[in-house]
Amino acid sequence: MRIDILSLFPETFASPLNQSIIKRAREQGLVDIVIHDIRDYTHDKHHTADDYPYGGGPGMVLKPEPVFEATEVIEKQLGVSELPIILLTPQGRLFSQSVAQELALRPHLMLICGHYEGLDERICEHLATDQISIGDYVLSGGELAALVVVDAVARLIPGVLGSEDSANSDSHSDGLLEYPQYTRPEIYRGWSVPSVLVSGNHGHIAEWRRRQAILRTAKRRPDLLEKGKICEEERKWMLENLSSPK
Ligand code: 6GU
Repeated sequence: MRIDILSLFPETFASPLNQSIIKRAREQGLVDIVIHDIRDYTHDKHHTADDYPYGGGPGMVLKPEPVFEATEVIEKQLGVSELPIILLTPQGRLFSQSVAQELALRPHLMLICGHYEGLDERICEHLATDQISIGDYVLSGGELAALVVVDAVARLIPGVLGSEDSANSDSHSDGLLEYPQYTRPEIYRGWSVPSVLVSGNHGHIAEWRRRQAILRTAKRRPDLLEKGKICEEERKWMLENLSSPK
């Protein structure tokens, strides 16, 4: 998969994309991430990428020309024309695990990071094919949002995670939060690991994990349970066990 990112602050990306899982995926050639500085596509002496808003008001607005030109140059270089051009903006559709799964199927993505108080509406209307927000809060720019999207998408590319099931057992991938995990020591400060996990009985362990995932989702994110995904018997067990705190 190839991901091109257009930004006014390209330095933001260096460290996060050179760590851990994403770093390894890039080194293995599973994902090719290229950062472009929007200012490189300006033509004036001062590399002006923003300007005052028509009609007045506070702040500056990202100009359309360098953004359109950057996407056109990159598309031409790559010999592609129909790649998704995704604008990161708090006005976009809400990002989620299912959106990540949808994007992970594409061979190529282009992400545009908005900045300043806004960007020229013609970028939204005539260039972007999709607009994504990572949540109902305002960030100073689209860079951190782009990193969130890249990370969530890249780890879904086959081969990026160590074992293929790691992504399947993640929180949200089946609509439930993930079950609790423990490692050694078996007793820490008097707190024991649940005995079923050291029982060696894989059937019991799987059932315990499934039920803990259900219980945890019901307590912390009941909104996720609405979507179904649990059977009658599990629902009955959940209601019986919901009263205990934690
Ligand atoms: Cl994509 N951009 C900005 N600036 N703020 C956000 C966002 C994006 N998603 C949530 N807040």
